[in-house]
Amino acid sequence: MSAHGAPQPITARKGGPLRGTADVPGDKSISHRALILGAMAVGESRITGLLEGQDVLDTGRAMRALGAEVVGHGAGSWSVHGVGVGGFREPDSVIDCGNSGTGVRLIMGAVATHPFATTFTGDTSLCSRPMGRVTDPLALFGAQAVGRSKGRLPLTLVGASDPVPVRYATPVPSAQVKSAVLLAGLNAPAETVVIEREATRDHSERMLAGFGARIATEDTPEGRVITLTGQPELRPQDITVPRDPSSAAFPVCAALIVEGSDVLVPNIGLNPTRAGLFETLREMGADLTYENPREEGGEPVADLRARFSPDMKGVPVPPGRAASMIDEYPILAVVAACAEGVTDMPGVAELRVKESDRIDAMAQGLCAAGIDVDEGADWWKVTGRGPNGVPGGATVAARLDHRIAMSFLCLGMASQQPITVDDAGPIATSFPIFQPLMERLGADFGGRDS
Ligand code: S3P
Repeated sequence: MSAHGAPQPITARKGGPLRGTADVPGDKSISHRALILGAMAVGESRITGLLEGQDVLDTGRAMRALGAEVVGHGAGSWSVHGVGVGGFREPDSVIDCGNSGTGVRLIMGAVATHPFATTFTGDTSLCSRPMGRVTDPLALFGAQAVGRSKGRLPLTLVGASDPVPVRYATPVPSAQVKSAVLLAGLNAPAETVVIEREATRDHSERMLAGFGARIATEDTPEGRVITLTGQPELRPQDITVPRDPSSAAFPVCAALIVEGSDVLVPNIGLNPTRAGLFETLREMGADLTYENPREEGGEPVADLRARFSPDMKGVPVPPGRAASMIDEYPILAVVAACAEGVTDMPGVAELRVKESDRIDAMAQGLCAAGIDVDEGADWWKVTGRGPNGVPGGATVAARLDHRIAMSFLCLGMASQQPITVDDAGPIATSFPIFQPLMERLGADFGGRDS
């Protein structure tokens, strides 16, 4: 089992305003997909702006174990020499995906239609997450999962030697499940079809089309129907990874709640399947503007400007928006704590099976910091105490979850008393430069006691 070493506690306390420009790293979802599809193309793909977080590095290592050549050239520039669809070889040892649900689920899909066995594991967080949601549809292709009784890692996936195409309606709103099925469908004959009731992030579909696969998306009364024609020859690509809106969320939200702040976060991907948080913040009354809106590499992009917003009000967040902001609920809860009134977040059962049970992790930490939270199986409500109203003065558990750690450090920047996160180590999975970037803006992590 992997681990990131000794716990690294960090304390955030109220300092001056946050000011300046925040250059956040590349998009994690797109980075995983660039490495995996690069490994399945014939020839060399070049990637710039790749997120060099631990999750993505673990996926790069897995692609090497499956036979692709993956080389880092520094500063986010990488090349991947792919082996072609159907060209992966049996790995010599266990694939350890660390903390990454996206990594393990997408790679399971990619190997499921190859005639060999792959054993997967991860850290204690990943080993507690459900894998049946992926191994069930992969079984329809003819792959067999052997492992722990509850469908958790470690498990071995024996790939189908004679795969059949699949038509699958996803029972949960999950881009990871959708992508696993599509990646498996690449090495199956004829058409693989995925139907999703709620649209989830569509980076796999966009990138598969970019690599030359035949893929069509149609919105029907049944939901969104995605049809992929199997066994294409994928052509290598030059990919520029846009910056991650889920990472941008942290400096943006910190600026909204820290008095006097004014922060510019340039070049942020605003794909509608990812931008739900920013819409919600604007509904709350956030001073958040999109500057210089444009298109880059087929994705809408803008520079975000966030200023301290003392008049924010709690809002009901429509459940239909959940998929487009699923990773942003923890930091939204922090903003909600600093707004007036109740922020109601229904339809979010998926939050309970992320890197941690994010409703429980946030509820416990917020309560310790003096904020009221009500919760049920698939909903929660945060009652805000207004700007400068959060007592703080708590030590909270990050639970091996990068977004929980970053969310509470942002809260500590705005609360009356400091907030200590027991272990900031997991932040390296998605946003390795979080601490220096926030410090350059003016954050005070001076209470660091590691
Ligand atoms: C991701 C999909 C989401 C998200 C995760 C990244 C992806 O997970 O939470 O951080 O890259 O496909 P689910 O598909 O489980 O909702």
